[in-house]
This record gives sequence, structure tokens and C-alpha cells, in this order.
Amino acid sequence: MVDSELSISEKTWRRFVYADRPITDENFKKCCKFLDDLNWEEIADSSQPSQPSKYDWNSAPSPEPDFYGRDEDLKTLEKWVLDERYRLIILYGFGGIGKTQLAVKLGEQVEKENKFDRFIWQKLSYTTPKDVLLSELLYRLSPNTDQITSDLEKRFLEELKRQRILIILDEHELSQKGEDSNSNRDSYKYYCDFLRQLSLERHKSCILLTTREKPNNLETVASFVKAHELKGLDVDAGCKIVADILSSDDNEPPKNLTSDEKARKVLVGRYGGNPLALKLVAGLIKKQFHGNEGKFLNRNDISMVVPDEIETILTSLTEALDPFEKNILCYLAKVSDSVSNDELYENLPTGMHGSKLPIVLRDLTRRSLIITVSEGNKVFHTLQPMVRKFVLRQLT
Ligand SMILES: Nc1ncnc2c1ncn2[C@@H]1O[C@H](COP(=O)(O)OP(=O)(O)O)[C@@H](O)[C@H]1O
Ligand SMILES: [Mg+2]
Repeated sequence: MVDSELSISEKTWRRFVYADRPITDENFKKCCKFLDDLNWEEIADSSQPSQPSKYDWNSAPSPEPDFYGRDEDLKTLEKWVLDERYRLIILYGFGGIGKTQLAVKLGEQVEKENKFDRFIWQKLSYTTPKDVLLSELLYRLSPNTDQITSDLEKRFLEELKRQRILIILDEHELSQKGEDSNSNRDSYKYYCDFLRQLSLERHKSCILLTTREKPNNLETVASFVKAHELKGLDVDAGCKIVADILSSDDNEPPKNLTSDEKARKVLVGRYGGNPLALKLVAGLIKKQFHGNEGKFLNRNDISMVVPDEIETILTSLTEALDPFEKNILCYLAKVSDSVSNDELYENLPTGMHGSKLPIVLRDLTRRSLIITVSEGNKVFHTLQPMVRKFVLRQLT
């Protein structure tokens, strides 16, 4: 339906009727006039000027009600966002490690401090063209303007300069089953280049990206960009997650539940303090081992259970690896201890030149596929048990 005299478009009518998207003052009055001269002042909420909300949380996931640990990580991020005013912050780590939930916590803290003019939570899927993302962000920043279709980058930068905005770009799965992981990875690189470029521009806002892969070459923009690797939860926090699941009251409460602190700690270590893995495995223990962690660990002391969700994450992370990267992973998986840099140089895969090793190790580390530790003047590499199990089963 289009009213010619009042020139109300069908889109505007839909917005008016369904009230799901903002509508300009002028259009709102036109629609009221058309409907038998409704008095718009009676309908409009005068206490709510047609301003976009300051904290736009709509697309953020619900906060985890039983959130444990992460004090130090939160402190670090708060300092970078609120005090040191970095323009781009990369929060990276293995899938399920808790990046999204930590970003939610950070958003809550930032809201309390009231130092930002605007806050926006945006899911980021790399299959979305960059211009579509920018136009969505611009729309959310100023919903009363017409849809912006040109000079998107320039307009976006103007907004970042005009007001202090915190934008959390929360990575959606890097690749879903059936998607082309290489083309996803290309668009990921493209997004990262854009964000890196943006951080070089003088502006007062901050973009925080959660991601499973730390982007390359952040060193070139180190004055404006920080990266934080989110590692596993500490043992206490991990144990609390397991305890919550085991004692949760559902249709099948475990019988004779006994708390085995020692076994619980071993379990948390075995799953690298990954809260998603711990929740899933604790669910299995509850259902199939009467909530007894010790029994589960004893049955699985040679092999271990890799939950499906973690397996999917590992598949997507390893799909696009080159043969040398796969070879190094397989080598590390077959050796049960940590392996020193020197040992890796002595056992290079056939055809691989030693000069490639630092790059291969860097790329595996930035995907959280290997753990690197320094001891004295030596550097050692190893795999977390879930990765080792996956590599031995799927890649060797
Ligand atoms: N600190 C925490 N305490 C308790 N549960 C957590 C914590 N961090 C994450 N979780 C839970 O672990 C699961 C994975 O967390 P999420 O933030 O989605 O991980 P990521 O974004 O790294 O993939 C979710 O169920 C989440 O609620
Ligand atoms: Mg996430």
C-alpha cells in the first residue's frame, strides 16, 4: 500500500505497523495523519527522544549466569579499552575457551564506567560483505538517517572520530560445514586488513574483535593495536563448571554423587580449562559414569573423548593448513613430551627448508593449535591433549 498524497512508502508503513525498526519523526507523523488524524503527540513517548540507545546490546548473547575466573584477563582488557585507549583489540583463542562471554563481561564493565558515548555489539560473519557490515553499523549508529550506500568507509571513520564508540565484533564460526573454508579465510584476511588500516587513522573509538585466529602482522601497528590470547580457565574455575554440571538438577540426577577433587582437577587439566569442553564432558560423565570423574578418567587414560563440537572446531582450524603445517602437528602429536625448537629443526618434514619453520610455528600458535613455552634459553612446543587426539586420529 502506498499513499500518494502523503507519500508513505510500503517500507515505512511496515516499520510503523510492526514497530521493529526505527522510523523518522516525519514519517511517524505522516502515518498518524493518514490513520484518521491520530494525535501523534499522544502516541509518542515524549520521554524517549528519537535517539538510538546508547548501549546497543540487542545482538549480544545472554551473559553466562555462572561465570567463573577471568579476573586478570578482564583487568587487562579494561585497561586497554578504558585507560590506554587502544583503537583495535584482538581477543583470540581456541573455540569454546570463553572469548564471547568475556567480551560480554567487558561490555558490562564498560557500561558501568560510562566513558563511552556509544556501545555496539555486532556478530561478525566473514561471508558478509564488508560494505553490508558497515552499512548495518552506520544504520545502528544513526538510525534516523536514510540508508547510507556510498562512501561507507569514510562515513564510518567519521563516526569513529565524532563520538567515542566501543564496537565489539564477535566472530561467528569461521567456517560452517559445507562452506569453502579457503574463501572464508580470504575474507577473514580482508576484514583484518581493513581493521588494521582503520587503526592507523586518528579516531577516539575502540573496536574489539573476538577470533579463533590471531591476525598476522599486528606488529606493524603495535602502537594502536593490542592482542590478548585467552587461555584455559584456572583449575578452580574449571572445577566449579564441572561441579555445576554434575550437581545440576535435571531428569536424571546422578546417584551417589561423590566429589573427587583430585580427579576433577586432572579432568580440568586434560581439557585445557576449556569451559565448553568441560561442560560437554561433564554432561557425559553425569549421564554415563554416574557423575564419577575418577571412573571416566580411568577408562580414558589412554585415549580421550573429544566432544563433537570441539571436533568441528578442530576440523575447521586444520582444513586449510598446508602440508608442512600438518606435518609439524603430526610430529608433535606422536611425541608425548614437549619438543624443543632444536629437535624440530633436526626433524624437518621432507622438502621443508629450515627457514620456513618459524613461520609455520607462528601460524600454528596464532590458531592456538600448539602451546609454546620458554624454559631458560630454550623454546618448547607441545599440543593440548584434545588437539593431540584429533591430530592422531584425523591427520596421521
Ligand atoms: N568464565 C566462564 N565461566 C563459566 N562458563 C563459561 C566461562 N566462559 C565461557 N563459559 C561457557 O563456555 C561456553 C563457551 O564460551 P564462549 O564464550 O561462547 O566461547 P568462545 O567465544 O571462545 O567460542 C559457553 O557455554 C559459555 O557460557
Ligand atoms: Mg565466540
